[in-house]
This record gives sequence, C-alpha cells and structure tokens, in this order.
Amino acid sequence: MQIPTRLWIGGEWVDSDEGSTFPVRNPASGDVLAEVQEARAADVDRAVAAARAAFVASEWRDIGPHERSALLWRLADLIEANADELATIETHDNGKPYFEARRIDLPSVVENFRYFAGMADKIHGATIPVSGPFLNYTLREPVGVVGAIIPWNFPLSQAAWKVAPALACGNAVVLKPAEQTPLTALRLGELATQAGVPPGVLNVVPGFGETAGAALVRHPGVDAIAFTGSTPVGKTVMREASETLKKVSLELGGKSPNVVFADADLKAAVRGASTGIFYGKGEVCAAGSRILVERSIYDDFVGELASRAESMTVGDPMEKTTRLGAIVSEEQLERVLSYVEAGKSEGARLVTGGERTDVNGKGYFVTATVFADVESTMRIAQEEIFGPVAAVMPFEDVDDAIAKANDTIYGLAAGVWTRDVGKAHRFAREVQAGTVWINTYNRYDSASPFGGYKQSGFSRDLGYEAALDKYTQTKSVWVALDD
Ligand code: NAI
Ligand code: MG
Repeated sequence: MQIPTRLWIGGEWVDSDEGSTFPVRNPASGDVLAEVQEARAADVDRAVAAARAAFVASEWRDIGPHERSALLWRLADLIEANADELATIETHDNGKPYFEARRIDLPSVVENFRYFAGMADKIHGATIPVSGPFLNYTLREPVGVVGAIIPWNFPLSQAAWKVAPALACGNAVVLKPAEQTPLTALRLGELATQAGVPPGVLNVVPGFGETAGAALVRHPGVDAIAFTGSTPVGKTVMREASETLKKVSLELGGKSPNVVFADADLKAAVRGASTGIFYGKGEVCAAGSRILVERSIYDDFVGELASRAESMTVGDPMEKTTRLGAIVSEEQLERVLSYVEAGKSEGARLVTGGERTDVNGKGYFVTATVFADVESTMRIAQEEIFGPVAAVMPFEDVDDAIAKANDTIYGLAAGVWTRDVGKAHRFAREVQAGTVWINTYNRYDSASPFGGYKQSGFSRDLGYEAALDKYTQTKSVWVALDD
C-alpha cells in the first residue's frame, strides 16, 4: 500500500506552500497513517491557476469528444487494475469494512467512470425553430473550473461522482477531499494523469474546510462548486459562493424515513431496514435512520430488528467477518454517543447497542443501536446522527405514515415496504424526497439521478441529464439568414 502524502497539482506531487502538514488516522486503531501536506489558500490559488491553464489549453479543449471518452475509460481501467490497493487505502482511512470498499465502492467507481466516459461524446446542443429569418442553435459548453468539495463517508465514490461527469463535460477540476479521508482522492489524481488526462485538468488539494474549502468557494477563478456534506456547511457554501455568483450544487444531509406497512414481506423489510441504517456504519447521507412501522406489527418488528442489529459483527475492518467497521473519527464517535445520550434522556427506549467498543483496546467503534418508541419531536428523530443509530416509531395508517415521513427539514431519500402496489406508488408520489426505494433500500446506479428535496440540497449527482445541467452551460447562437 503506497500512501500519498503530497498535493496533486498540475500533474505532479508538490508540497504545500507553507510546508504545514496534518495527521490522517486509521479509525480502527487511532494510529496516524500519514502526515499529509495541508493545502491552504495559496495552494488553492496554485491549483486553480493550474486548472484554468489546463482548461484553456488546446491539449484539453481541442481534444475531441471521442478521445475524451477514451481517456475516461482508460482511467476506469486503471482504477480497476488498482482496485485492491485503493480499497485497502480506503479501509485504512475511513474504517469501513474492506469487503464494502472492495466489493461495493470500487466496482461502482469503475462503473461511474465508464458511464460518464460514454457520455463524453454524446453531449450536443439543438437547432431551435425561431421567428424570422434566423438560424438559432445552442452549444453545450463546459462551465470551466469546477471546485469539488466532498465528505469522508465514501471518499473515492464521492470523488468519482463529481470528477467523472465534470471531466466528461470538458471541465477542469480542483478537488478538495475531506480532511479525515484524503488518501484515495490523491491517488485518483495521480491515476488520471497516468491515464493520459492532461496535467492540471484534475488537481487534488487535501486540507480543512475553513481554509482550503473556503478558499475554493471564494476563489474568483472557480466557476462552479459541487459540494457534498452537511446541511449547515452547505448553507455557508451557498452564501460565500454568492459573492462571485458561482454555479452551486449541494448534496446535503438527510433523515430518511424507511416505512414498513403491515402487509410487507416482513423478513425482507427487516433486512432492508437493517442495511438501510447499518450499512456503511450509518455514515450514509441517505441512511434510513427513521424507521416507521405500522402499529399492528410494531412490537414484532422491533424485536427482529434488534436481533439483526446484535448480529452485526463489530471488528477489524480488514477481517472478512466484520459487518460494522470503525466510526470515521474520534470526533464523530463522540457525536454519535452524544445522540445516544440524547435519545435516552428524551425518553426513547434503547432496545440494543449504544455502546462504545474497541478492537484490541483501540479504535472508534460503536455497537449497532436501536431506539424504539421514538417521537417525532425528539432530537434523534430530527437531527442527522450519521452513525449506526436507528430511531423506530409506530404509525397508524397511510396518511399518518406520509405525514410522519415528511415531518423533517430533510428530503434526501425514503423507503417503503408493502405488497400493495397502489399504496407504494401513492407513498412514492407524496413523500418529499429525491429518491424513493420500494421494497428495497440503498440502491444506486451511475445512470439514476441522486440528490435532495428541501434542506437536503438541490441539483443531482449521477445520470445524464443531471450531469449536463450541472457541468455544462448553454450558449444560444443566432445567425441572420438574409441581409
Ligand atoms: P462537513 O460538511 O463539515 O464537511 C464536508 C466537506 O466540506 C469537507 O470536505 C470539509 O472539509 C468541507 N468544509 C467544511 N467547512 C467548509 C467551509 N466553510 N467551506 C468549504 N468547505 C467546507 O461535514 P463534517 O463536519 O465532516 O460532518 C458533520 C456532519 O455532516 C455529519 O455528522 C453528517 O451529519 C453530515 N455529513 C453529511 C454527508 C453527506 O454525504 N451528505 C457527508 C458527511 C457529513
Ligand atoms: Mg482517516
């Protein structure tokens, strides 16, 4: 495992301007994996300059859509060829089980680059019938320099979600990974250059949000900000970006309802509710963290969910049997535990879990947690915990289920479990969420748009149309046909 520790700017490894570094830890042990060069405003300047130069250089601008497609496909091949190493780095950096990194994250990253490679040569404008003796047509042009700011829960996947479509559309990118998990993004920068992506088209600047992230958002040389992270920081990003009127897209937090009707396939629903909240340690923006269960099956359901929670083996993320890895950082662990305390003191019933644990006396681990009898007004029902903590509550009928599902500032995703097709589609129509899963949960595909309603943000990641909207701008051209 080769651990990158420097900034990737202009197609090479460079040190930060001030020479400062920050420790990157393995959350499964708390040990420092590497001291990584810390990007600050001067480094962001350098990266933006490199991106701007690369954006206007003929090497990238005149490359032609088929060749751009081929480059992205080659990058996908390189990621695939290095998948074991990338998954190992990801697991050490983030704490997620290796089997998740290797079997779920990495294949989806490869697929993502291939999907958007296929888009690169299918971007075109239209000819538009207008009044008068004129030819009118549109050009779909790249936005320019895109600043991408991503979180720590799916470090490489989140990088791919931004970088693949942005490059497919012909932009140049400055990517700021989360300070907790900068390693795979750095390696992605190196692999892109190795695949033949011209130097400066993808730059990676590890650093903190308040310094590197804020500098990117304010930078007059950046044309668009693609952000994924918490709702409060998303608000700051939007405010700061307004000074230079950047195009902003925000994929923010969630408190997604997973709704189980009494007529559901119970076994499947329990499994779906369990993976909905415990997959990825619950550090998933679309986690089904509010589990709403119809009253007549409520007690049985809570019991079955609790026993599934108890079967989630907490352990060394590199072990094959581990199902629940380490929480990303000590700070996040404290946050999760403080919500467990809040749940207890507000009167929810702690059915199982809620305890800090360790592997060989080390690491940031917590057991899979189920709270029952949660009320909508409680903090654990309203605030994003971002950990393996399920809040279960009963409902009475379809109307009540929909009302409770929508009783949140968020609107990222929702799940519904029922054998009644009409009920399922009525729920899908009335729930305020960017993604609805019927009799399944946590499904993603490069071709299907993903993003939020309400305070979960706006605009979409993934999908052809969403990428066009986000990473291109439209120019209308008028030609006089007579003189
Ligand atoms: P965060 O929103 O602070 O961090 C996300 C990214 O934004 C990181 O790269 C960070 O460095 C950057 N950032 C932070 N402040 C910034 C600023 N002022 N300007 C520009 N960039 C900035 O998320 P954090 O603190 O790591 O996690 C806290 C909570 O956020 C979590 O507990 C969870 O509730 C939520 N979250 C949601 C995610 C999602 O996928 N929607 C992902 C990560 C966190
Ligand atoms: Mg780490």
